[in-house]
Amino acid sequence: MKDYLGISGKSAIVTGGGRGIGEACAKALASYGAKVAIFDINDVNGNAVKDQIIAGGGEAIYIHCNVMHIEEIKAAIKEAASVFGSIDILVNNAGGSEKPIDFWNVTDELWNKIVTYNLFSQFWMIRETFPFMKEKGGKIVNISSGYALCGGDQCVHYASAKAGVIGLTSSIAKEGAPFHINCNVIPVPTTKTPGLWESDGEFADDEIPLIPQGRLAEPEDISNTVLFLVSQAADYVTGQIVAPNGGRRMLV
Ligand SMILES: NC(=O)c1ccc[n+]([C@@H]2O[C@H](COP(=O)([O-])OP(=O)(O)OC[C@H]3O[C@@H](n4cnc5c(N)ncnc54)[C@H](O)[C@@H]3O)[C@@H](O)[C@H]2O)c1
Repeated sequence: MKDYLGISGKSAIVTGGGRGIGEACAKALASYGAKVAIFDINDVNGNAVKDQIIAGGGEAIYIHCNVMHIEEIKAAIKEAASVFGSIDILVNNAGGSEKPIDFWNVTDELWNKIVTYNLFSQFWMIRETFPFMKEKGGKIVNISSGYALCGGDQCVHYASAKAGVIGLTSSIAKEGAPFHINCNVIPVPTTKTPGLWESDGEFADDEIPLIPQGRLAEPEDISNTVLFLVSQAADYVTGQIVAPNGGRRMLV
């Protein structure tokens, strides 16, 4: 039998793995044999996902890690590497926005918070994971947003940070290539997660007529793309924007 993905036995970190897209990614990776470290700040959700993976025969650990704090990132990566012995896969998923806000009302404090959460955190995760990937290579997937490509609706801070994730991705892809480190980005479209309902979810269904396939994305639509990008099948794919979006070009 052939093994298309080739991720069995690999070690993976998924940030924000306690629910939504991160949960789907953690479960998908584990279901194909990867050892998964779930980083989250919600210990109840993070442990629940870990327990579900283990109950299903997979391997997982949960580590409390606020990706907005570099010291927590350093400690969590060290712990994951010491438990698993390596880090082969990083899914930089944690991120999000808050309620829509006009750009003229965005304070410096709010800007810094959202940019730290969505962009700085991903850079920190990559920089601190690099020592564990540079000898054997690795696969990194950064989660961005459709807003990065076509502008946000009342979320300039979030759209700017997610656009930064695209520049981060192509830069890491170039510098990572000599180390066999691939880095790609998914500009996630509107996806049915708890985070969506907490931000601007009440308008989500208005987008359905704009989507050729006629439905919003499910978390598994995104995790299936993540699976491909972290797999051996994607060894020659790096620095790319890969968009699972039901055929929608401009995502809002
Ligand atoms: N759902 C969408 O419509 C949509 C659209 C575009 C992009 N995205 C992006 O997809 C990613 C996942 O979105 P989602 O909708 O699944 O989110 P979600 O809000 O449902 O889940 C986010 C997870 O991250 C955790 N988290 C929050 N703050 C954290 C922190 N500081 N450190 C570590 N973990 C933290 C939460 O506890 C939660 O488990 C995000 O980067 C988001 O910006 C989502």
